[in-house]
Amino acid sequence: MVAGRERWSSKTGFLLAAVGSAVGLGNMWRFSYLTAENGGAAFVLLYIVMTLLIGLPVLLAELTLGRGARRSPIEALGVFGGGAWKALGGLFVATGFLILAYYSVIAGWTARYAIEAVLTGFPENPGEYFGSIINGRAAVAWHLVFMAATTLTVMVGVKGGIERLSIVLMPLLFVLVCGLALFAMTLDGASAGYDFYLSVDWSKLFTAKVLNDAASQAFFSLSLGMGAIMTYASYLPEDSHLPNESIIIATADFGVAFIAGLAVFPMIFAFGLSDQVNGSTVGALFITLPAAFNEMGTAGYLVGILFFVALVIGALTSAISLLEVVVSSAMDVLGLSRRTAALSAGGLIAALGIIPALDDGRLDVMDKLAGNAFLVAGGLILAVFVGWVMRNPLDEVSKGATGVRWFGLWRWLLRIPVPLVLAYTLFEFVRGWNAGS
Ligand code: TRP
Repeated sequence: MVAGRERWSSKTGFLLAAVGSAVGLGNMWRFSYLTAENGGAAFVLLYIVMTLLIGLPVLLAELTLGRGARRSPIEALGVFGGGAWKALGGLFVATGFLILAYYSVIAGWTARYAIEAVLTGFPENPGEYFGSIINGRAAVAWHLVFMAATTLTVMVGVKGGIERLSIVLMPLLFVLVCGLALFAMTLDGASAGYDFYLSVDWSKLFTAKVLNDAASQAFFSLSLGMGAIMTYASYLPEDSHLPNESIIIATADFGVAFIAGLAVFPMIFAFGLSDQVNGSTVGALFITLPAAFNEMGTAGYLVGILFFVALVIGALTSAISLLEVVVSSAMDVLGLSRRTAALSAGGLIAALGIIPALDDGRLDVMDKLAGNAFLVAGGLILAVFVGWVMRNPLDEVSKGATGVRWFGLWRWLLRIPVPLVLAYTLFEFVRGWNAGS
């Protein structure tokens, strides 16, 4: 099995695929509304700290396990920790299954916005319109179309499907996001947006909520805690320089989120729509921005289309990595062919996604459970595993990367700060859940 394992055809291909996994709805939608909700620049600053403090170490841990074992998550944890640790791999697969089921529904809305915008422009009343499309048959249909595209890509394979798609789409996404940020600079009234986004209000820095949101966003945005990066790393050659790769992935992921913010905030503030962003989490993206696009006339029409195209690209390259976790596990554990694994996993997830497509209340619950709690729990256990249980993480990570001085620091971060921060995040989650929020 190891001998015949698929491989990336180049380092760039791997990096673009991994960045593709990380860069998604989380960068443009979740990042913007959390920044808005938590007072702007103070949150951005804390998010950088959390990316360095907990994001990077866990990212490097996933890379190490994946490349070291060259197997899908369930088997990889078995290789390094023994049979009982396979259960953690099982949690990863279950999480991927659940996240993709609703992520695909949101991606479906996004694709619909993009295509309908081309045909008929943005709706006059985005709030009402959005309310009318999130549930029901059409939502199911768009979700199924998106799942079909995801499944097809994964079915073609690591090199021909995932890598090739990422090589084409990720640079395009990057150009689009930069173009949008440049355009936003030309708007009258953009400066209020920059003020909010870039000047730090120190009084907002150290509340429990900001800390918590920054930690969970760092984690979510890098696709950590469910073996996605681990799976991609399992197709790497042994001599790859994992620390460098972790830094490149984290920098690119942060870069796209930050530049997207440079587009979103000036647009929203230029039209006095900032108070709408706080109101609803999904709203920032599907309601407030289209309202801004409407205000901008023809330019807004074009900019809006490009914005939603960038979102669809981000969502697709993330979705394929979610599916790949499930598919590679089904191939390794059940011995299925890639084709059978992709069709059956994709089909089952598509079926499960019908539930959140019919009821956005259910979608919310799935997002809270899988997108927050399971990811954080998975990452916490993983950090403890690599920090405390695994016998030779330093040997493993340093293959192909001799002379790096901070591996000791890396392991210490995984031992103490990362578990503490993630345990706290989980604790706050459970408290919030019990309080019914
Ligand atoms: N990082 C993705 C985003 O920003 C979302 C995500 C979270 C994800 N966990 C994941 C994607 C695991 C793929 C795999 O949108």
